Amino acid sequence: MKVTVVGAGNVGATTAHILANKELANEIVLVDIVDGIPQGKALDMYSATPVERTDTRIIGTNGYDETNGSDLVIITAGLPRKPGMSRDDLLIKNTEIVKSVTEQVVDQSPNAILIVVSNPLDVMTYVAYKTSGFEKNRVMGMAGVLDSARFRTFISMKLHVSVEDVSAFVLGGHGDSMVPLPRYSTVAGIPLPDLLDKETIDHLVQRTRDGGIEIVNYLKTGSAYYAPASSSVEMAEAIIKDKKRILPCAVWLEGEYNLKDVVVGVPVKLGRNGIEEIVQIKLNPDEQEALNKSAKGVQTTMEKVNL
Ligand code: LAC
Repeated sequence: MKVTVVGAGNVGATTAHILANKELANEIVLVDIVDGIPQGKALDMYSATPVERTDTRIIGTNGYDETNGSDLVIITAGLPRKPGMSRDDLLIKNTEIVKSVTEQVVDQSPNAILIVVSNPLDVMTYVAYKTSGFEKNRVMGMAGVLDSARFRTFISMKLHVSVEDVSAFVLGGHGDSMVPLPRYSTVAGIPLPDLLDKETIDHLVQRTRDGGIEIVNYLKTGSAYYAPASSSVEMAEAIIKDKKRILPCAVWLEGEYNLKDVVVGVPVKLGRNGIEEIVQIKLNPDEQEALNKSAKGVQTTMEKVNL
């Protein structure tokens, strides 16, 4: 199993580190345009493997030759947000970056599965999908796992229960109009509305929507990376181990959920072939409307991208 991580910034490097610690790949290639950074971080991580007792070779490079024949490529390259910026403010610059990265990745690894992490997430997944020419099951964006992880964390903090017993679903675009679904969020199987009043749930939902910006405002110089990296690795693990996990991922839709020609987050089955199924859950009219609105927002941003 060979995994390439493009972007050796906080998200990319942390993703590579977690992948190595979990021994999910025999070889990890860390790519970045900045001379020395991927090489230095990769050698540092490689040197941790004897202590962690994981046999993973980690190579850092500024080029793509070393990525040849990767099974899985995680694209984290791009600028992160700063305070006062929306994810969409990154659109023009990150489109250029993700397009160029995808071309080089595809050239070396025509059979790879791509996980996109760069923002604005749904549109960057669309850019990678279009640029790669890959089948839609092989290109997906990471956001739903992160947004759901944040929702799970806030639910667990509120109820003082183990995060392990909390599951949550957040659909839609990775933006202010994301769609947390309290009805499908449970604590040991008990639906959230049976445990908390509406006002409390609304508050947790809003904190989830603002989960990214809350961290940007603390950090000031960049955005979150530990939870984004863990979430990317959860998707990678499902694919590498062919686990058939059901996780919310950003995917190209062709009529599912009554949405067409747009990338948004919906539940999918993830296995060795990437997206093996789009899982259709029943939405009530309010939930469907919120999803439509979120998809419309993504579509408007997609239209600004010239591919
Ligand atoms: C976040 C950014 C990375 O949600 O989109 O933290």
